[in-house]
Amino acid sequence: MADPQWWRDAVVYQIYVRSFADADGDGVGDLEGIRARLGYLELLGVDTLWLTPFYTSPMADHGYDVADPRDVDPVFGDLAAFDRLVADAHEHGLRVTIDLVPNHTSREHEWFRAALDAAPGSPERARYHFRRGRGPDGDEPPNNWQSVFGGPAWTRVQDPDGSPGEWYLHLFAPEQPDLNWTNAEVWADLEKTLRFWLDRDVDGFRIDVAHGMSKPPDLPDTREEREPAGDDERWAPASGEPDPRFDHDDVHGVHRMIRAVLDHYPGRLVMGEVWVGDSSRFSRYVRADELHLGFNFRLVRAPFDAAAVRSAIEQSLGAVADAGSSPGWTLSNHDISRPVTRYGGGEAGLARARAMTLVELALPGMVFLYNGEELGLPDADLPDDVLQDPIWELSGHTRRGRDRSRVPIPWEGSAPGYGFTASDPWLPMPPEYGKLVAAEQLEDTGSTLSLVRRAIELRKTHPGFQGQELEWFGAPTGCLAFRRAGTTLVCALNTSAEIVPLPPGEVILASGPLTDGMLPPDTAAWLA
Ligand code: NOJ
Repeated sequence: MADPQWWRDAVVYQIYVRSFADADGDGVGDLEGIRARLGYLELLGVDTLWLTPFYTSPMADHGYDVADPRDVDPVFGDLAAFDRLVADAHEHGLRVTIDLVPNHTSREHEWFRAALDAAPGSPERARYHFRRGRGPDGDEPPNNWQSVFGGPAWTRVQDPDGSPGEWYLHLFAPEQPDLNWTNAEVWADLEKTLRFWLDRDVDGFRIDVAHGMSKPPDLPDTREEREPAGDDERWAPASGEPDPRFDHDDVHGVHRMIRAVLDHYPGRLVMGEVWVGDSSRFSRYVRADELHLGFNFRLVRAPFDAAAVRSAIEQSLGAVADAGSSPGWTLSNHDISRPVTRYGGGEAGLARARAMTLVELALPGMVFLYNGEELGLPDADLPDDVLQDPIWELSGHTRRGRDRSRVPIPWEGSAPGYGFTASDPWLPMPPEYGKLVAAEQLEDTGSTLSLVRRAIELRKTHPGFQGQELEWFGAPTGCLAFRRAGTTLVCALNTSAEIVPLPPGEVILASGPLTDGMLPPDTAAWLA
C-alpha cells in the first residue's frame, strides 16, 4: 500500500451502498453489510472500493441529496460503523474512496432551510442560486434551463411572508438545490468536509458532477431545449456543443482547491465524474494540479463494434496524454443501463459484456467495475409501481430512470432476498437473478465471476500488463487487437458475425469458448 501513485493501474469496485448487502435486515444495504463482504471483495481481487453517498439524506435521489456531508445516515449506519469499515478494508488490503456531492445539497440541508426562512438578497440565499422569475409577475422561470432529470431546472418558493417569491436553481431534482460556487462559505465548507473524511483515513474521493458546480454569472439561456433521445444519452453528451449548465471555466478553480487539500495527505486520490463530450475540454480536468483522474465515458457510449471501441479507446488515451494523467475506464455504473442489456441482452449480451470486460482489463489505467458487473447481471425489468428513481415522476412517466441497474446483488440461495437481505429488498429482485448468485458462480469455473477474478489476477501478475502505450495490430473487419508497447500480451476482440483466426500466441484467457482454435463472434481472448 506504499506506492503514492497506486491508483494508476488500480481496479476500483463501485458499491452502490443501498444495493450491496443488508446487515440489519431492513431491506436496504448498509455499511456493516459491506464489512461482512470484504472477504468476497478481496477474493475478487479489486484494489479499491468507491462507496456511493452514505451521508445524512432524505433520499430523494438515494443519497445524492445530502443534508449533512459529515455524518452517516442512520439507514446506512453511523460514523463508528464507517470507521470499522475503513479499518477492516485496510486490513484486507482494500482502499476506500467515497463520493462527494459538491454541486448541490439536499433541500433539508440547514443552509437551504435557512435560505427559505430568509429574505431575498440575504446572505443565507447567497449560498444558492435564487433569482426573480421572468414575466410581469415573476411567475416564469428565470431562464430556460432543464433539469437533467426532466422538467424545468427552477422551482419557485414563497417569501417568508407567504407571497410568491424567488426561484432557485436545481440541475437535478427540486430536492437538490445547486450551490453557488462564487460564495466563499461554500468553498470553506467543502474544504472542511474533505479534511473531515481524510482525517478518518479515507483513501480518496469521487467528485459527483465534477463538470458542474460553477455557473456563468448571468445564467444565459441554452440555445435550444435539450431533449436527449434516451435515458443513457442524458448522462453522455454526444458532442462538445457548449451547454451553459456545465463545464464552466471557473470550475477548475474548485478542482485546484480540492487538489491542494489532498496534496497535504500523500497517497490520497481525487477522481471526478466528468461528462463532457470533447476530449480537449476533458483533459483540462486532469491537469497536474486538478483531479488525479477523470472517468472517461467514451467506452460506455461505444456500441459493440470494434471500430467504435477502438476509436473510444484512442480518444480516451489522447485526452489524458497531453495532461500527463492516466485513463479511467468504465463500462457500467448506477446511472446507466448494465452492459449485458446495453449490448443486446440474453446470451449474446452476456457474451459481449464478458468480451468487453477483457478488453477493459487489458487497458492501461484505472478500471472501474460496478457491483454486479462481475456477476454478469442484466438490467432488471421492473413494474411501474416499484420505480423509485425521481426521473420517473419528473419526466411525467416518460423515462423509467435508473432503478433497472440498481437492483440489489444476489449473493446466495434460491429465494428473493438471495442473501442480500433477510426481509424484502428495497427493489424487487427478479427470479433470473437467482441463477446468477455469487456463491454458485464462485464454484463454477465457467462463470462470469470466475472470468473476472482470473482476469484481475492476470492483470496484476502477468508482465504483459505493464506499460502505458498501446500498439494496434491489423485485424479482420469487425475485430481489433492490441498490446501494451514492449510486451507480448495481445488482446483480441471479435465483434463481427464471422469466426476469425486468432493472432499468434498461446491463449491465456478467453471470454467464451473458442471454435477449433479460432475466435468466434462476441468473444475476446488474451494471448501471450
Ligand atoms: C451523478 C450521480 O452519479 C447520479 O446518480 C446523481 O443522480 C447525480 N449526479 C446528481 O447528484
